[in-house]
Amino acid sequence: MKVIVEKDYAALSKKAAEIVKEEMLKKKDIVLGLATGSTPLGLYQELIRMHKDEGLDFSEVTTFNLDEYIGIDYDNPNSYHYYMKNNLFKHINIDANNTFVPDANAKDLEDYCKEYDRLIEEKGGIDLQILGIGVNGHIGFNEPDEELNVGTSIVNLTESTIQANSRFFDSIDQVPKKAVTMGIGSIMKAKKILLLASGKSKHEAIKKLIKGDKVTTQLPASLLLLHPDVTVIVDEEAYRG
Ligand code: PGA
Repeated sequence: MKVIVEKDYAALSKKAAEIVKEEMLKKKDIVLGLATGSTPLGLYQELIRMHKDEGLDFSEVTTFNLDEYIGIDYDNPNSYHYYMKNNLFKHINIDANNTFVPDANAKDLEDYCKEYDRLIEEKGGIDLQILGIGVNGHIGFNEPDEELNVGTSIVNLTESTIQANSRFFDSIDQVPKKAVTMGIGSIMKAKKILLLASGKSKHEAIKKLIKGDKVTTQLPASLLLLHPDVTVIVDEEAYRG
């Protein structure tokens, strides 16, 4: 696992965007795995800037998002469909037909989860997966537990995640308790992984991860230690606490 320490969030976002751009230039029809939350916002802003100022071309790019809440409409600003559309897709020249965010309101959700993994395979697999990390070490919504799901699955969110994500909602009661998330296996199949972490609140999880000597389902991100091509970009605060 390669660890890059940047001075602050702006530098981290720039560095992440440079890596994404480099991969996009190598493969025009790249398949990107995308994340939501606060952390990748700076990366998305930088990619939008690169599209506008440097002509970075998304016309042949396909994207798969990690997760989506169950039980909120997609026009709700807290849905990840809404987030992706407004924070990235509508600002770049990507074909909406090539953007996939788990349809957590699908009728037969268990079947749909299998279908999502199948679709990723059909598109050739994820070339570059962007990840954030939860304060509890989750990736996607794969929460610390005795067991982790291999494929895309329906999951219960932990109190820690509900608490952390309540900052986006009017009240904690509005935070959905369930979500659909790509599984640990779905994530590990990505050819290259870029994990971003910013701020003091991520320090404990990052410290355990970059110590690099234990794999445990209680820190889902630690499974990434088994992956051959992971780059972690952190800012000083996440690195030093
Ligand atoms: P954040 O979320 O980027 O909003 O901190 C990261 C995560 O929960 O994976």
